[in-house]
Amino acid sequence: MYKIFDTVDEVSRYTAQRLRDIILAKPEAVLGLATGGTMEPMYARLVEMLQTSPGDLSRLTTFNLDEYIGLAASHPQSYRYFMGRHLFDKLSLTPERVHLPDGLAEDIDGACRAYSAAIQAAGGLDLQLLGIGSNGHIGFNEPHTRFSCRTHAIALSEQTRRDNGRFFNDPDEVPTHALTLGIQDILEAREVLLVATGPGKAGIMAELYRSDADEALPASALKRHPNVTIVMDSEAAALLPLGSDPTPGSDPAPHGV
Ligand code: GLP
Repeated sequence: MYKIFDTVDEVSRYTAQRLRDIILAKPEAVLGLATGGTMEPMYARLVEMLQTSPGDLSRLTTFNLDEYIGLAASHPQSYRYFMGRHLFDKLSLTPERVHLPDGLAEDIDGACRAYSAAIQAAGGLDLQLLGIGSNGHIGFNEPHTRFSCRTHAIALSEQTRRDNGRFFNDPDEVPTHALTLGIQDILEAREVLLVATGPGKAGIMAELYRSDADEALPASALKRHPNVTIVMDSEAAALLPLGSDPTPGSDPAPHGV
């Protein structure tokens, strides 16, 4: 299902509301969380919502999608730091229930296997939140990653390093490798919410709309998932076939993703 809104704020509210609803309905929910500029206004809304109608967050479990290899938690561009700043430091979660891939692990392969196993041991993901890279990556699953992959280390593409360079003082500081949840892990989530905003995502969202499931476009794996919502603002949706002026909250593809 596609949901298209006029503004980033509406996208953020809709997405935050879905997360909030799950958290309130199921205090022991297991959430797959994402980072990136797209998520910043959404987490701000979620924090506001949870502060005005707080539920019991102590039993909530979270697993983040990805992390750079080689950045300490104290590095402002590590995803652990991002999550602390935008969400975790503002909520009363149980620290043992908050998980991110460990980009400093000595045994990377062992840490990756343990990460996918921990998700399964927690009962699987109730919802996986996703952004999308301009090359169609989800998490850090770059084009041509096998859909059957579980958590693994990956070399970042030049396009991804260039895109993410905007967050670093010097674009050369962007790590060359990262850990990411695999596409198979993502597909096993009971619900997936992919969020895309801004004109920089318009090209890839039109490609995704047209594409069948194809490993050249990692996000297209979601075509094989039965419960996906793709949430966009009108700029990200501008090149979708049904025109550049979609009705807010509309669904241009009533037949599904
Ligand atoms: C990063 C992250 C992804 C994220 C994507 C989009 O590379 N690994 O998980 O979805 O970029 O980020 P942004 O929201 O900043 O465009």
